[in-house]
Amino acid sequence: MSPSAPAAGADAPDWIVLKFGGTSVSRRHRWDTIGRLMKRRAEEEGARVLVVVSAVSGVTNELQAICDGHADAAGTDARIAALVQRHEDFCRELSLDPALALGERLAALRALGADPRRAAGGLDWQAEVLAQGELLSSTLGVAYLRTQGLDVGWTDSREWIHARPLPNQTDWAKRLSASCDYTGDAGLRTRFAAAGPSLRIAQGFIARAPDGGTAILGRGGSDTSAAYFGALLGARRVEIWTDVPGMFSANPRAVPDARLLSRLDYEEAQEIATTGAKVLHPRCIHPCREARVPLWIRDTERPDMPGTVIDSSATTLPGVKAISSRRGIVLVSMETIGMWQQVGFLSDVFERFKAHGLSIDLIGSSEANVTVSLDPSDNLVSTNVLDALCADLAQVCRVKVIAPCAAITLVGRGMRSMLHKLSDVWAEFGRERVHLISQSSNDLNLTFVVDEGLAEGMLPRLHALLAQSGAMPVSEAAVFGPSWRRIDQPATLRPPTWWQQQSGRLLHLAQAGTPRYVYHLPTVRERAREIAGVAAIDRRFFALKANPHPRVLQALEAEGFGFECVSRGELEHLYRVLPALAPDRVLFTPSFAPQREYAAALGKGVHVTIDSATPLRQWPDLFRGRDIVLRLDPGFGHGHHEKVRTGGKDAKFGLAAEALPEFLDAARAAGARITGLHAHIGSGIHDARHWHTVYAQLASLAEGIGTVGFIDVGGGLGVAYDPEAEPFDVAAYAAALAEVKAAYPQYALWVEPGRYLVAECGVLLLAVTQVTRKQGLRRVGADGGMNALLRPALYNAWHEIVNLSRLDDAAGDACDVVGPICETGDVIGRQRRLPEATAEGDVLLVGHAGAYGAVMANRYNLRELPQEDVIDD
Ligand code: LLP
Repeated sequence: MSPSAPAAGADAPDWIVLKFGGTSVSRRHRWDTIGRLMKRRAEEEGARVLVVVSAVSGVTNELQAICDGHADAAGTDARIAALVQRHEDFCRELSLDPALALGERLAALRALGADPRRAAGGLDWQAEVLAQGELLSSTLGVAYLRTQGLDVGWTDSREWIHARPLPNQTDWAKRLSASCDYTGDAGLRTRFAAAGPSLRIAQGFIARAPDGGTAILGRGGSDTSAAYFGALLGARRVEIWTDVPGMFSANPRAVPDARLLSRLDYEEAQEIATTGAKVLHPRCIHPCREARVPLWIRDTERPDMPGTVIDSSATTLPGVKAISSRRGIVLVSMETIGMWQQVGFLSDVFERFKAHGLSIDLIGSSEANVTVSLDPSDNLVSTNVLDALCADLAQVCRVKVIAPCAAITLVGRGMRSMLHKLSDVWAEFGRERVHLISQSSNDLNLTFVVDEGLAEGMLPRLHALLAQSGAMPVSEAAVFGPSWRRIDQPATLRPPTWWQQQSGRLLHLAQAGTPRYVYHLPTVRERAREIAGVAAIDRRFFALKANPHPRVLQALEAEGFGFECVSRGELEHLYRVLPALAPDRVLFTPSFAPQREYAAALGKGVHVTIDSATPLRQWPDLFRGRDIVLRLDPGFGHGHHEKVRTGGKDAKFGLAAEALPEFLDAARAAGARITGLHAHIGSGIHDARHWHTVYAQLASLAEGIGTVGFIDVGGGLGVAYDPEAEPFDVAAYAAALAEVKAAYPQYALWVEPGRYLVAECGVLLLAVTQVTRKQGLRRVGADGGMNALLRPALYNAWHEIVNLSRLDDAAGDACDVVGPICETGDVIGRQRRLPEATAEGDVLLVGHAGAYGAVMANRYNLRELPQEDVIDD
């Protein structure tokens, strides 16, 4: 539904319900916003407007404290006096006379302190007390907006929203966590419309109890009140105004790249709200869903942002829409002690959960084990309840409690049809201990339960993997809005890239033939100077495998870099380009190389690294009297893909620390001296602390060896391939290295980055060959694919792709960009929003292609290798 949708009928305009929470009603300018929004909806949409409000910030907590401390008369009076003062002050901020605006209400609040029911703290008295916050804020709001010239009426929500006791509901819940009727009819709507002006303010959180007194809706009550009103009135929509722009594909505080979810259906929204997102209380979706009332989430601080729309007309798009997490999960694992396939086992154990009043959330079961999760938010899990449950369960099974855990949930339609796209996500979980996996029967969620401490760190990685995998179709504009990062810091602040500034020149170069790599040397120098500026680093080397172009090597040599080579071929190439290079500026770090390559490197006098005792044993004469560098495996690997993680048991690189004594023996026997220690744990790492850990680990081993003078912590620095992603934090890297260097100042610190220095300087230019549409999917064909740039096919790597010939065109429908190679994996990018007019002959630009681009190109299908150009201004 768009804001310009016509009203239901000129004589019976329908209602729009707006809900505002505590922070939105606590300041004068916020009330001005509320007034403006009410007026706009009335004038522009011809609607009647009902605003539902929470209490002023912090007031409900104070009222709750009064309920909890009911026996303390003096304490209650003091609290009430403070609340009166707070509201009187707020009246003055709103230029209202406190006695006129709130006199009666404040008297009612005082009277509750003196109420004879107070001493016993009865539930009905508590409900009256808790209701005062909303009664006060709504009364204030009406008084203020009237002074601003709006004809606003005050509505007592209790006249319209009536609590309905549920079977088995406790007295407490009947009064303080009530559920209400929300089926409205034409009669009710007529009565409501006649009961006041067409702009109205009512209270959230409160309802009429069956005995005529007040009932409270409990947690998330105000959202639920708005939903009840929306359903009762058959409203045009319900707008929940809050302090975030809407629902996101992950918690934006943990994942700045999380995308705004522009459009959801009710079931998806319900699932996201239930599995962790705090934006909307899960209880408020159901009434809107039943009554088919659209639900909008809007941001009070950014009133012009479209936010999230939840309705039933969203086109259902299979795909993961969000990843959420809940902490504080308790798992109970139960092993049968009876017979295999024992009849009635589940009924025996579930009976005991019921007896202890615990409801079960997730279930995983096998023939002999059942593991379930308890969600503390609904189960009030206390250690006593758990202990009692376990004692009871022990009569029928072996029981183990696993806590604290976190549940990480992928939410979206058609999860089962998505499994093949989730291989990287499975791999990420595979690296950790997963206690339980559950796939819901409604095909809307897939949940993994892990140790609680792991969840926070995993979320950003999982979100990035999902976005890359195609399982989260982030290019789908109907579903995904801007990222939190972009909302928070608009893109206009970001400087244009070098290739945006040189697009004309690049188009000209492309005329000489594509596929073609172009490198921008000023960008190489800029990155080189950043590394040179890290004070803790004593010597820096460029891992030339990332880009051995002669001009790149010359530029980096001039910037003071040495070079790291992995093969005799690289060494010879380096010396062809830089014949006068001192051998001390060259590292040779091969992997499983033949003897002759070590011999060649030793002959040149460069630093030679070995990472097992085998070369020393097989070729002791070669190493006699030589200085060598020992590459260690710190026992863990990191990086953007499992294929580039070079540490840990599965990696072929590095000596395990436990084999060090044996290595030292072999070195002694061969007469070789260990002058340096080295480790490189992987490529594309963003967390600066890893190098800190590696250095500390190597330094502590170096002390025992005695001859070590330097420690080389490798390369691996990450790069932001996505223009929206956070760039590598060089300052954090510098700080982490400075800290550890201060602890071990006796060693020189060496580094050998590759990607970081050259990724950004390079672009790959391709020409469009054919544009096709097959079963709805647009494919843009290019004259280079996995032959020219292997990274997407090999690592699912994501590279920005733009149509350089149509940079100013609007984004079109999502399409796949494919190459000319005879493999289905020959896709350079999925779900890209290239302009609609993209056609044969257009030049596509693939960004951040300067590292591991041309050097990994191949002649598969006997296609020519890409050409290379260099720009130096
Ligand atoms: N040092 C050693 C011993 C290495 O093996 C590598 C990279 C580096 C330094 C440089 O790492 P960097 O700073 O570039 O992350 N083809 C893959 C990357 C493979 C990296 C291999 N070793 C890709 O395109 O992502």
